Amino acid sequence: MKTVKTVSEAREAVQTMRQEAGKIGFVPTMGYLHEGHLSLVRKSMEECGGTVVSIFVNPMQFGPSEDYARYPRDAARDADLLGKAGVDLLFMPAVEEMYEKKFFTSVEVSELSRRFEGSLRPGHFKGVCTVVCKLFNIVSPDRAYFGWKDAQQLLIIKKMARDLNIPVEIISCPTSREDDGLAISSRNIYIPADRRRDAAALYKGLSKVRDLIEQQGVRNTSVLEEEGKKTIRKYQGIELQYFEIVDPEDLSPVKEINGKVLVLGAVRIDGVRLIDNMLVG
Ligand code: PAJ
Repeated sequence: MKTVKTVSEAREAVQTMRQEAGKIGFVPTMGYLHEGHLSLVRKSMEECGGTVVSIFVNPMQFGPSEDYARYPRDAARDADLLGKAGVDLLFMPAVEEMYEKKFFTSVEVSELSRRFEGSLRPGHFKGVCTVVCKLFNIVSPDRAYFGWKDAQQLLIIKKMARDLNIPVEIISCPTSREDDGLAISSRNIYIPADRRRDAAALYKGLSKVRDLIEQQGVRNTSVLEEEGKKTIRKYQGIELQYFEIVDPEDLSPVKEINGKVLVLGAVRIDGVRLIDNMLVG
C-alpha cells in the first residue's frame, strides 16, 4: 500500500493506478478504523480494480463544543489494517493541506441538512459536504462507499453528487454491529464499561419498530414511534434526542407505513452521542 500526504501526490498516484486498475473505488473516513469501515473497504475491493482510502479528521464538520481535539486517532494501526486488507492507496492529508489559511468556500445541501443531525449539530453537514466534495475532486473515484450507519449523511452526499454533477456513483453499505446490536462506531470507546449494556437501547427501540411493522402489520407511525421510545426508556440513563419514522428518499415525515421507511434515532448515554437507524418494510 502506498501512503501519500499531499494533494498532488494523491492525484499522481491515482492517475497511475487508473491505468492498471480501471475502476477506482474510494472510502473516505476519519480513521480509528473498525469493522464498519473495513466492510466498506472490502466492498470497494470486490467491485473495483483499485481502492483508495482517506483518513482525515475534518475540523470543519465539528462544532466548537464538539470532540474534534479528542476524536480518537491511531494512524499506525489504521495503516496496518488497511495494508493487510490490500488497499492500494492511503491518503492522509494534514489540516493545512486541505484548508489553506484563507479558505472561503463551502458546499451545502440545504433541505436534507435541516433536521436530525443537522439541527443538533449546526454546520456539521456543511463541513462534511465541503470535505467530501474536495476529496472527490482530488481522488476522482468512479465509486465511493458510504455506510447506512450515517443515513442522513449518505442521502446528503448522494444528493450533492447529483446536484453538482460529480461523476461518481455513491454506493451504500449496511451497518456493521456488535453482537448485541450496538452499531459499531469510533466513538463507542467513550462509553463507560458499566454503561455499555444500556448502549444497545437505541438498537432495541429500532428493532421493536421493525418487528411491529413487519410481524404485526402496525401502520400508524405515531403508535410505532411511541412504542420504540418506550422500549428505549426502559434502559437506564438514556437521553433520547430524536426517534422518528421518515421517507428513506428525502427524510420527510411519514404518517402511515406503505412501503419502505427509515427509522432514525439519536441518544446520549453518559454524554456520548450515539446515532443509529433501520430501513424497514
Ligand atoms: P467516519 O465516521 O470515519 O465514517 C466513515 C464511513 O464509514 C462512513 O461512510 C460511515 O457511514 C461508515 N461507517 C461508520 N460506522 C459504520 C458501521 N458500523 N457500519 C458500516 N459503515 C460504517 O463519516 C465520516 O467518517 C465522515 O463524516 C466523512 C464522510 C469521512 C467526512 O469527513
